[in-house]
Amino acid sequence: MTYHPSDTRYDRMTYNRCGKSGLQLPAISLGLWHNFGEDTPHQTKRAILQTAFDAGITHFDIANNYGPPPGSAETAFGEIMRADFRDFRDELIISSKAGYLMWNGPYGEWGTRKYLVASCDQSLKRTGLDYFDIFYSHRFDPDTPLEETMGALDYIVRSGRAQYAGVSSYNSDQTRRANAILKQLGTPMVIHQPSYNMFDRWVERDGLKDTLHELGIGSIAFLPLAQGLLTNKYLKGIPEGSRASQGKSLNPDAISDANIAKVRALNDMAAGRGQTLAQMALAWVLRNGGITTALIGASKPEQVTDCVGALANLGFSTEELAQIDRISLA
Ligand SMILES: NC(=O)c1ccc[n+]([C@@H]2O[C@H](COP(=O)([O-])OP(=O)(O)OC[C@H]3O[C@@H](n4cnc5c(N)ncnc54)[C@H](OP(=O)(O)O)[C@@H]3O)[C@@H](O)[C@H]2O)c1
Repeated sequence: MTYHPSDTRYDRMTYNRCGKSGLQLPAISLGLWHNFGEDTPHQTKRAILQTAFDAGITHFDIANNYGPPPGSAETAFGEIMRADFRDFRDELIISSKAGYLMWNGPYGEWGTRKYLVASCDQSLKRTGLDYFDIFYSHRFDPDTPLEETMGALDYIVRSGRAQYAGVSSYNSDQTRRANAILKQLGTPMVIHQPSYNMFDRWVERDGLKDTLHELGIGSIAFLPLAQGLLTNKYLKGIPEGSRASQGKSLNPDAISDANIAKVRALNDMAAGRGQTLAQMALAWVLRNGGITTALIGASKPEQVTDCVGALANLGFSTEELAQIDRISLA
């Protein structure tokens, strides 16, 4: 069936400037790490992407290794792009990354120029895109000179394979050094992709959040819902089909009595604010404009709709923030 996006798709979404760049990103972005591999029906993938775009989510985040098997999320996205979004390429910000294992031998992972450029070309081929809007170094490589990794990002942008460069999971010191190299090369670091949620606050402890503000680099927080833990879904055990039931990245040990007691307290707080817990968790990540965009995942279109509802109430009182700290850091 032909997809016609909603005419009102730009009416309710908030768009935030990505650091000091000109690029604006939706406050909620959608990632394709899970639920876009060969283990998910094609119609579900289509429905999730269509629901997202209809809600004003203009940013889809992918990586070379998303699947399973690795690469299949890019292939599926390419098919849906051609079927549903062909006329809307210029309304979309599509990213990919390279850093984790993609092929055998010494050139299939980390941060060499050899790997990054080859992987970017493979990702373009799988998605059928002419270019990515953002291309990331997916992780810091301790064994490759940072000049080489950043030089590869600069080349990827200059050669037209991507519009903007970013890094993921680099700490504050690595980010400062990478940013200085990119600046010298004339290709700014526009965005950083770290994990961040109420339970995972390394960006605060490390100083990365402050560093990004100081350097004018935008931020896209992954795992804002702690892979689903920061929602109401595990309050009565582990539901069938949920991520914790699938033996993937969310270890069922995380659904412990101690964690669920915290989740229950946070869920009660969210209800008091007139929000679902997912909505409050996203509002917390986005509070005070500290993060450009929260990068969610979804296994159902309804989850996307629920998450976008977070934007109706992004404010927190000092007492609410203190209460969230008391519960989540206990
Ligand atoms: N740069 C990196 O190294 C890196 C690493 C990891 C992820 N990422 C990016 O971050 C994206 C998001 O990661 P993530 O999927 O783990 O993030 P997440 O948003 O923390 O978790 C998504 C999961 O939460 C559940 N969920 C979402 N909305 C819900 C709602 N409204 N109500 C109840 N449950 C809800 C779903 O779980 P169920 O599936 O159980 O329904 C969904 O699959 C990835 O797709 C990827 O683009 C980047």
